Amino acid sequence: MKISEVIKKRHSCRTYNGLRLEQQTIERLQGDARQLPVLQPGVTAPIIRLVDGDGIEGKLGTYGSITGARQFLVMASGTTDADKVEAGFEFEALILKITAADIATCWIGGTFRRDRFSEAFDRAMLDEAGGDYEKVKEKIAGRSISIVSPIGHPTPKKRFAERVLRKVAKADKRKPFADLFESVSPDTPLGRVLENVRLAPSSTNSQPWRATITEEYLKPDNKKVTIVKFRCAKSGQFAPFDMGIAYCHFLLSSPDENLRWEIVPGCDPMAMEFRSVNG
Ligand SMILES: Cc1cc2nc3c(=O)[nH]c(=O)nc-3n(C[C@H](O)[C@H](O)[C@H](O)COP(=O)(O)O)c2cc1C
Repeated sequence: MKISEVIKKRHSCRTYNGLRLEQQTIERLQGDARQLPVLQPGVTAPIIRLVDGDGIEGKLGTYGSITGARQFLVMASGTTDADKVEAGFEFEALILKITAADIATCWIGGTFRRDRFSEAFDRAMLDEAGGDYEKVKEKIAGRSISIVSPIGHPTPKKRFAERVLRKVAKADKRKPFADLFESVSPDTPLGRVLENVRLAPSSTNSQPWRATITEEYLKPDNKKVTIVKFRCAKSGQFAPFDMGIAYCHFLLSSPDENLRWEIVPGCDPMAMEFRSVNG
């Protein structure tokens, strides 16, 4: 399945059917979580693990925002904007892999009990390290639990509370293409890639990503290149995650339109610039 189709298929799911995923599926996802594409080598990479939801969700670990989930992804990430952008990028890359496998998810940055998920994450890391506490401490240093997501299969019908929440968050509404992206038509290869950014999840569906497209002539041979310069229209604790998600949709869906990009060196992680490498 093309990544553009996976992006169109993804929606936040908050009502699960109470069943566990098969062991084989869990093992595959755990493998995927260890081999994610990287946006910015050199920043503190996030650590994502799959944990058992029993004893977390059952005791209102998500304040009732999620029901019926038996397993969760839990992410520990670094503290700078660049670290959080990276975390947004890698977590969304995993969410898209999971969506492609027909499994539902929901980014959760606010409505979860950090202490409970932290405990479950530490337990998973300790099991993995054969109980070696010092090794775990060293591995997760400089990171804290930032995002979780239930993973599982939805119930056929959404709960009333979920339908209300989607309406309040205007979850099904996206800003018009022209309000987000300047100097590009939606009906072009780059426009179709940016449409995939428009469909990205964002905290409270705030859709803070904006982009301006320009053309430049690179020295020494005056080669014409396209520059896509992103910026973020809001501040707040989740804005860097939202930007990382946008870059993920942008870069991962570009090959569907035969587009390739390099990051303009030295650009701000909250306002990344991408330069075309194929004209
Ligand atoms: C960084 C981030 C944090 C989020 N935190 C929460 C949360 O705490 N609780 C929740 O129910 N949804 C949360 N969401 C999900 C958004 O509300 C959802 O993505 C948005 O409404 C768009 O809906 P969609 O994902 O179905 O396209 C979060 C999304 C992102 C990207």
